[in-house]
Amino acid sequence: MSTPKFRLEATWVDHGEEPAKMKLALTNLSGADLKNFRLSYTGLMRAKADVETQNATFVKRFANFHQFDPLDNVVVADGETWEFSITNLTGNAQHRMDGPKSGYVTLEDGTHVDVDTGDLQIEGRPSEFAGNLIPEGKLTDPISVVPWPNHVAVSDFDVPPVVLCAADGTSAEEKRAINAVAALAKRLKYELPDRLRLTDVPGGRKLTLVHNAVLASEAYELSFAKAEVVLTYGDKAGLNYGLITLSHMMDGAKAEPTKFKFPTSGEIKDAPRYEWRGSHLDVSRQFYPTDAVERFIDILAWNKLNKFHWHLSDDEGWRVEIKGYPNLTKDGAVMGEGHEMPAQLGAGHKSTGGFYTQEEIKELIIHGQALNVEIMPELDIPGHCNAVLAAYPELRDPDEPEDNYRSIQGYPNNAINPGIPATYKFIETVMEEISDLFPSKYIHVGGDEVDEESWLQSPAAQKVMNEERLNGTLQLQAHFLGKVQKTIRKKGKIVGGWDEVSHGGGIDKEGGTLLFAWQKPEVGLELAEQGYDVVMTPGQAYYLDMAQSPVWQEAGAFWAGYASPEKTYTYEAAGEFPDHLKGRLKGVQACIWSEHLITRQVFNHQVFPRLNAIAEAGWTEKENKDWPRFAAQCRLLPRL
Ligand code: ACM
Repeated sequence: MSTPKFRLEATWVDHGEEPAKMKLALTNLSGADLKNFRLSYTGLMRAKADVETQNATFVKRFANFHQFDPLDNVVVADGETWEFSITNLTGNAQHRMDGPKSGYVTLEDGTHVDVDTGDLQIEGRPSEFAGNLIPEGKLTDPISVVPWPNHVAVSDFDVPPVVLCAADGTSAEEKRAINAVAALAKRLKYELPDRLRLTDVPGGRKLTLVHNAVLASEAYELSFAKAEVVLTYGDKAGLNYGLITLSHMMDGAKAEPTKFKFPTSGEIKDAPRYEWRGSHLDVSRQFYPTDAVERFIDILAWNKLNKFHWHLSDDEGWRVEIKGYPNLTKDGAVMGEGHEMPAQLGAGHKSTGGFYTQEEIKELIIHGQALNVEIMPELDIPGHCNAVLAAYPELRDPDEPEDNYRSIQGYPNNAINPGIPATYKFIETVMEEISDLFPSKYIHVGGDEVDEESWLQSPAAQKVMNEERLNGTLQLQAHFLGKVQKTIRKKGKIVGGWDEVSHGGGIDKEGGTLLFAWQKPEVGLELAEQGYDVVMTPGQAYYLDMAQSPVWQEAGAFWAGYASPEKTYTYEAAGEFPDHLKGRLKGVQACIWSEHLITRQVFNHQVFPRLNAIAEAGWTEKENKDWPRFAAQCRLLPRL
């Protein structure tokens, strides 16, 4: 990247008496005068339609994309700054990344030049940094394993063996499992020496594998002696997890030998607390290339997380090849100047985005299967469909007025329409291709944040409401999602969805319909009472885009407050669930929404170690959780 020619800095002014204001300052470093230009930027504190400006003219806004012009005849000389301010914004900034995330200047000759953006600073307040959110911690045993096993009784310790070597008699299938974990460890932490080996070496310790079909799925047992480690397992997943536990212990003992050792007597007996131990990843707001997704799956496996909830579509981009609807990835996967969709959330003027081909997805599915990670696809309908509608405008009701409602993220008319036949052809094709592509028994259909005004001015949707005697948006949404459920069931799959799928009368609960409780913890209990199976993913504890502290200089979102690593760790999803509903609670899940995650550094800062904390919540029984121990261990874990 060449040296930026322009820099955009912003300040938040909120003294309480008047509405908050954002001051923007564009400095010209181009070496020439800047005149007759336009500034475009992306930012989550959105200008309302009646935005007030000082020293600039508001041109337009589309979701987070804004354009402003200077007043007539403004010339910004090299090294000088053009300042303007705007009042009447949709949010009240709380953190440093709430200002412009990206932007560009359009010059007199029509060319576009990206600008660098600084943090949003706050005027008149000390602007503190959260500092270290992880204490030193305190081990309960001198070994390193996350998530912590459910029964640990190890007593004697030593420096680690050079490597653990498969004993004579190890089967080909078992050798394949050893190879998969050895390769996984090497991909994730090549800076540390090998942990596992198929052939003998002096200084190595014998690793004997014992199959015992009596052990539950995913369970394993380890017994330690000076000359040998015995790993007993019931199925492939249990074998995988036993080998991962051994690899964690080897890593700890090699990386920090004064703190962590390797056991020479005793045992570990381990099995997970929940069957659903997931993480979601939003690849729409930011696109993650295939190699990053592969590494993310590796990280899930390393943390014994077994479900990858892949959020493949949203307003900002559709990310999966659909052969029957090629424009989804031609026009619906790319933003920037000259495209159907303007820049959002970190993008500049250049084409930004991407998608996964079905062949790439097949490879990622196989990659996950080898490590006991199942991939559940999500296609978010009927709301969050700006990208779909940019690619296929014929999925709109032509008689619905433009921009008659806006989603919570500021997208106009972003729901596909349950009143037009083209919608059902689209659903049939997409769900058929997705069902054939993904072996997961669940297809997640989103269902979240459909604006309450959606479809109310669409004659086609009104006709359905009248015919079916439906009262308002929520009932029409439930009616539509019920039809989607029928389509998905024809393919032998089960519907997953966000908690709003239960609104307006909901959909059929039979056969394990699985809803993800995100808005607040109480919602999970309500869904279970209604008869849905539930995964707990409340924003207040498990949304990893949320800031980790209330201080200004932390990154992240704030609608659900903030979640320190300790809060995420100690949150108990089973909280208020009475015994008779506990069976409906299938597990827990992290959600990684990527609006704020515009660089890998921010991703890692937000996601770790809170993802590891959720992995421990999914695996480790409440009575075996221990925040100081987790804090003492979590620094060794790999990041993206
Ligand atoms: C969501 O956060 N809209 C599921």
